[in-house]
Amino acid sequence: MVTHHTQAPGSPIAGAPIAHEAGFCWVNHAAIAPWPARTAEAVKQFAEENAALGPENYKAWIKRENELRRTLAAMVNATSSSDIALLKNTTEGICTVAFGLDLASGDNIVIPKDEFASNRLPWLAQQQRGVEVRQVDIRSADDAEAALFAAMDERTRLLAVSAVQWTDGFRLDLLRLGQFCRQQGILFFVDAIQQLGALQVDVQAACIDFLAADAHKWLLGPEGMALFYSTPGARQRLQLLQVGWHMLETHWSFADTTTATHTARRFEAGSPNSMGQAALLASLGFLLKTGMPAVEQRVLANTCLLIDGLVQIKGVTVTSRQELYRRSGIVSFVAAQHSASKLFESLQSAGIRCSLRNGAIRLSPHFYQGPATMDYLLARIEQAVTA
Ligand SMILES: Cc1ncc(COP(=O)(O)O)c(C=O)c1O
Repeated sequence: MVTHHTQAPGSPIAGAPIAHEAGFCWVNHAAIAPWPARTAEAVKQFAEENAALGPENYKAWIKRENELRRTLAAMVNATSSSDIALLKNTTEGICTVAFGLDLASGDNIVIPKDEFASNRLPWLAQQQRGVEVRQVDIRSADDAEAALFAAMDERTRLLAVSAVQWTDGFRLDLLRLGQFCRQQGILFFVDAIQQLGALQVDVQAACIDFLAADAHKWLLGPEGMALFYSTPGARQRLQLLQVGWHMLETHWSFADTTTATHTARRFEAGSPNSMGQAALLASLGFLLKTGMPAVEQRVLANTCLLIDGLVQIKGVTVTSRQELYRRSGIVSFVAAQHSASKLFESLQSAGIRCSLRNGAIRLSPHFYQGPATMDYLLARIEQAVTA
């Protein structure tokens, strides 16, 4: 079934991350991604410039920040770059909504069961305000989206979902969810960290009110640098949790100390992460050179190769859902006769960098890795399973 290389193949795409040179087959983008060459170069340049000149070129830094907002806006199909805030991480975006929304006792929020802690704890924290959090088991339902709808009623204020679930890559139909919420007057929040950079996102088509995603997974960027999208109407419904100079309407004159801007910058209280911005913009440039439609195609092609290969290995069961519309960049599996932790250790020893999540091995290759890498990976898995 598979060919046997001794080292993970490199990428056919110029400037792609080079973890294979260190002997790793990096299929762990759902955790933290290695950087493309241009991202490393951007950080190096930023450091050198700063060491030599300090912020002498600050105007250029601001231009880069604006370009980053525009690029991110285009990536999620936002109508305007003024709908994009640059925050620290996904969690900060989620907390901005959860703690900023004027929720009343008796209101409820609907989320899928088993969400990643960042998309669960901030909502559960609203229980102290008398808010009910309804956690819906989307995996055992015949129709996951319908199960979420069934949990909603006239006191539902918000639906919060991960576009793609972190353990097994279960993908929700954002268009269907968003359109339903819009019709019902329910706010729609999307944690897009496991989707953005791998699969396309369209905030307008999916009627998304709020979206957050950090850069360090599928966007191939640095940690501590996230996008937070909000529509103008939705963000006016959030009380500001942090205030400071950077969120003021006229922040560069330092004169007005009271008026928060109406743009999404109102959620950025203080100085930006200029180095992180340079890094993320470079990473986006790497993705956009291929283009998101082609990136998505390649990600799903890898998923297809992995599922098809894994089901042929004796004793292996794919635990991710296999319907095409549920697929993402993540494929999880278990193997009969092997504990997941033992199998994980064997794969680690073979240089395979993946994750152990929820009792299964989670694989998450990216678009820049092609069929040769999938072939190599399947060979290592087969070896580990039959050992
Ligand atoms: C679904 C999901 N949300 C959020 C995060 C991380 O959030 P943050 O960007 O705040 O670190 C992860 C990381 O694994 C995740 O899988």
